[in-house]
Amino acid sequence: MLPVKLKRISATMATKSILRSGPVVCAVGNAYEILVPVNCDVLMSVTINGKSYCYHQNGIRRSDCVVQRFTVPMRELDKAGAYTLVYQKVIDRRAYSCLKGRAVSKTYSFRPLKPDREVCLYVMSDCHGIRGESENTCSFFGDNLDLLILNGDVSSSCETVEEALLPLDIAYAVTKGSVPCVITRGNHDLRGNFAQHLDELMPTADGKTYYEVCLGPLWLLVLDGGEDKDDAHREYGGTAAFHAMRQEETVFLEKLSSDPTAGFRNPDARYRFVVSHIPIHFCCRDDPDDNYPFDIENDIYSEWVKHLNGSVRPHLYIAGHLHREELWPVDSAQNARGLHCPTLIAGKPVRRGDRDCLGAAIKLTSDSAEIFFTDKRHCIIEKDTIKLKGENEK
Ligand SMILES: [Fe+2]
Repeated sequence: MLPVKLKRISATMATKSILRSGPVVCAVGNAYEILVPVNCDVLMSVTINGKSYCYHQNGIRRSDCVVQRFTVPMRELDKAGAYTLVYQKVIDRRAYSCLKGRAVSKTYSFRPLKPDREVCLYVMSDCHGIRGESENTCSFFGDNLDLLILNGDVSSSCETVEEALLPLDIAYAVTKGSVPCVITRGNHDLRGNFAQHLDELMPTADGKTYYEVCLGPLWLLVLDGGEDKDDAHREYGGTAAFHAMRQEETVFLEKLSSDPTAGFRNPDARYRFVVSHIPIHFCCRDDPDDNYPFDIENDIYSEWVKHLNGSVRPHLYIAGHLHREELWPVDSAQNARGLHCPTLIAGKPVRRGDRDCLGAAIKLTSDSAEIFFTDKRHCIIEKDTIKLKGENEK
């Protein structure tokens, strides 16, 4: 992984704190990636129950990065219920010494999902830079929130480091580092000069942006469709290679589908959801604009739907991208590729008039998901319920 050079304004450094905001605990596989955006060169570690984890690459600790990141075993943090950041500003990192500032430590409490009680999730996508209102919307559950899902296009592009860090800024404002988050990429996140460094600023599974997440009673499959038009489209100017990524992702799905140890087969995972910015089962064939630019990857996306229907059998597909608040039943006309579960589209920016960004609160009970579409004032605009048992239950 190439290092990201901070484009900081040195004149303002003296007044800035070391932490840009605070830690965000992202769930990936059976681990948490604790991501900590920083304003300066720093040596940082995370301590959990007496064990220390530091950010290093083949033994060399990273100090000149925008985000400090620590992969910790999920069971260790779940058990400890707290973690401590320990850090020192690096003043001068030399060949034979390192001049540092004073050591600081800060402890954060943490609450994992529990299998024996109702689970409260909040899902939002497509904020497109609407920050304060999005933070209000995502705070619907207050201290009862168990998991925050930011499902892409939080910024409208990644031309600057500030745009690239906006998902982490919003996630920290909502969670204060105390509950897990899932953060995915949307197609707009992939544009702009800084997007080429995005993998250092977002959660990944060994560098991949598609992975499973095993959170006790909740199993998630994070999929990444990349951009929404063909790689050769003029808007990308030759910077896109998402077809190759989708081919690799197909291999990942094939392996996952046939893996006897995959998390979706665990009987404790009572809820199986797919999280993906792009609704891969939706085709824009009726869109008359520009020679149907969004009608792409029919073979690959049909293959993905086949794997979902065949082995994974999710209860719900959570998407964004369309700037709508909708729950599609299985027999919806939108479900062009025949996915065997309902689809939740959760993320609607409102720029004109009363600026807002709508999202969806989900309460999981033993056999159903109650879904509430809400706004920045926590008003419930619409609600619906889907049964989690039945056709897709194993
Ligand atoms: Fe999008």
